Amino acid sequence: VEFRDLEIAVVGARGAVGSELLALLASRGVAATRVRALGRAASAGQRVPFGAQQLELRPADTAQLSGAQLVFLAAGAEAARELAPMALDLGARVIDASSAFREDPQVPLVLPEVNGGRLRTSRSRLVASPNCTTTLAVLATDPLRRAFGLRRMVLASYQAVSGAGRRAMDELRRQTAEALAGRTTAPQVFAEPCAFNLFSHDSAVDPHSGQNLEEQKLARESARLWGDGETAIAATCVRVPVLRVHCLALQLELVRPASEEEVRAALDGAPGLAWADDRELNRFPTPARAEGRREVLIGRLRPDPSLGRERDGRGRGFGLFVAGDQLLKGAALNCLQIAECW
Ligand SMILES: NC(=O)c1ccc[n+]([C@@H]2O[C@H](COP(=O)([O-])OP(=O)(O)OC[C@H]3O[C@@H](n4cnc5c(N)ncnc54)[C@H](OP(=O)(O)O)[C@@H]3O)[C@@H](O)[C@H]2O)c1
Repeated sequence: VEFRDLEIAVVGARGAVGSELLALLASRGVAATRVRALGRAASAGQRVPFGAQQLELRPADTAQLSGAQLVFLAAGAEAARELAPMALDLGARVIDASSAFREDPQVPLVLPEVNGGRLRTSRSRLVASPNCTTTLAVLATDPLRRAFGLRRMVLASYQAVSGAGRRAMDELRRQTAEALAGRTTAPQVFAEPCAFNLFSHDSAVDPHSGQNLEEQKLARESARLWGDGETAIAATCVRVPVLRVHCLALQLELVRPASEEEVRAALDGAPGLAWADDRELNRFPTPARAEGRREVLIGRLRPDPSLGRERDGRGRGFGLFVAGDQLLKGAALNCLQIAECW
């Protein structure tokens, strides 16, 4: 089956991820007549861009989902719990960007470069796409894990506001303009001001572990993607005043010692990754460089001086900086790649 011959529905088509999905489908040559842009009934009738064309938004209901062969859900976990069973009953294959099914053992959680084989072994017609921070961290470290084993990953994230959706992007733009005009407005999407500020991730904090939900997802979903508990993970997830692209500072501890050259060679040409790593010019991955790019940028590869070296110069500790457009590889592009692999 050719991708472009399918009847496709995108639920959440007005949203941050849904609008990227429509743009990707249009760029793949899918005809507008084969795509249904669906959303909340309250938004029906609005027009959403599809390449150079526009589609009319329709309500995500049984009538609009029937006949769709492939349904992308980018409408949040609550909507996914309601709409995924509906679309499956109507015979569609469903790819969900939300957290609703990521921990459901019946539903494969797929990052194609890492565990795309799950699509062949599972009979499920529903597939979940991982959390965006998890996707970037696992994609950037999987080649090292395969080559040397990965014992430990300590991570600090610098997450764009668009991770919280289209309204959060509007909030950053509005607050920035207000602040520059000397005014302050009360936050609506986040509990803290996002312009000229940063704050610990806005997901709920578990009172026992002290970890917020984003940090917990990272550990749980990485373990599912890798299929074992080899890698211990500790994370600090932070929201920064950037519209799109999440950055990650990673400190990695390998199982087997390696030289910096060996680590570099393992990452070279790995699928989905591109270097931005120029020590001389001090040029490394940034949101501005990664925005709109399908590859996740990696750089600042360096030995971790807090972990010892062997006599031959090899060591287990390395630092790495990552910047990835989380609306693309962290969500819309990964969903599309799942569909293509499938
Ligand atoms: N943003 C990211 O970086 C990212 C990364 C990975 C995964 N995800 C996941 O992707 C999903 C979408 O995120 P987003 O950032 O695109 O959010 P968003 O910008 O808020 O968009 C969500 C869209 O879903 C629509 N919607 C909400 N409830 C619906 C329902 N019951 N039926 C039909 N449509 C409904 C909304 O319609 P209205 O426009 O009418 O409100 C909105 O357009 C979330 O589950 C999120 O966790 C997001």
